[in-house]
Amino acid sequence: MTSTTVLPLADPALAELLTGRLALVEERLRDAVAQADALADTASRHLVNAGGKRLRPMLTLLAAQLGDGHRPEVVDAAVVVELTHLATLYHDDVMDSAPLRRGALAAHEVWGNSVAILTGDLLFARASATVAGLGPEAVRIQASAFERLCLGQLHETVGPQGGEDAIEHYLRVLADKTGSLIATSARFGAMFAGCPPDVVSMVTEYGEKVGVAFQLADDVIDLTASGAQTGKTPGTDLRERVPTMPVLLLRARAALADSSAADRALVELLDGDLSGDVDLAAAVQGLRGHEVVAETLALAGAWATAAVAELELLPAGKVKDALLSFTDALVDRAS
Ligand code: IPE
Ligand code: IPE
Ligand code: MG
Ligand code: MG
Repeated sequence: MTSTTVLPLADPALAELLTGRLALVEERLRDAVAQADALADTASRHLVNAGGKRLRPMLTLLAAQLGDGHRPEVVDAAVVVELTHLATLYHDDVMDSAPLRRGALAAHEVWGNSVAILTGDLLFARASATVAGLGPEAVRIQASAFERLCLGQLHETVGPQGGEDAIEHYLRVLADKTGSLIATSARFGAMFAGCPPDVVSMVTEYGEKVGVAFQLADDVIDLTASGAQTGKTPGTDLRERVPTMPVLLLRARAALADSSAADRALVELLDGDLSGDVDLAAAVQGLRGHEVVAETLALAGAWATAAVAELELLPAGKVKDALLSFTDALVDRAS
């Protein structure tokens, strides 16, 4: 995988500036994960070195351009959000039994579950140490995002309870497991660049909603993209029965009185044994061509539009334009 996000920015000066700032974040990230213990060091560097899109730090840097983006705290804040994200990836891959991440073997495939979980914890510890330098308010914000992230993963795992609507439940899961950290990324950027509270709050709301759009697009990518594009194994969610929006929409259709035999057969296939590669490929194929994929993308588009509406009162200019391009890139992506 390539290691950094290439933002389709119309303004070359802004693109150059952000690329430079991101290089600084990259350097700081590598210092932040270093450990004296050889195994801890190798396992901690594993996913940083494997690449990734660096969307969250990029959003921090971009939001900071709404104020004084040169303040050194902005770079620290960008490091904090990527470290937090990295840690969740180690844990998520254990929970989802995902074989690949960022084009590399998932950490649990290399060192086993215990080392993968402990490495995630080490990275959380380093995120905490870094955020401590940013003061108590930042610590509280990061802790709250971390808590929501864990609750999102927990609620995803246990599923809707006591007659809760499966799709509403899932959208709350997405806001918690993904929206919370993307919202924090934007918030930290504006906050540490000294933006006024109304701007901080606008970009926070934007991040929360664009995070849901991003995760909905991710659900589709698990079905439609190749492993070479994403660095992940297609169909992992289906195999591990991780709920995703296309599957929830299909189940809702199949439960209707006038449902089609084809939809019911596809649900049966999904509920069957997907441990074999042929069955999994058939399930992926069946869903890939189904209308629920377009419906999920339409939902992602609607969340992106709602996210952009939060920015309405921002002054027009190159930073606002860049945030709009960033939104499009998050939703309309192949990896
Ligand atoms: C993966 O996030 C986890 C989700 C919330 C979908 P990214 O798609 O941002 O992963 P990297 O950082 O680029 O590897
Ligand atoms: C991961 O969600 C969200 C996190 C908080 C890490 P997924 O399980 O859908 O993400 P991928 O597809 O593995 O990246
Ligand atoms: Mg996963
Ligand atoms: Mg998961």
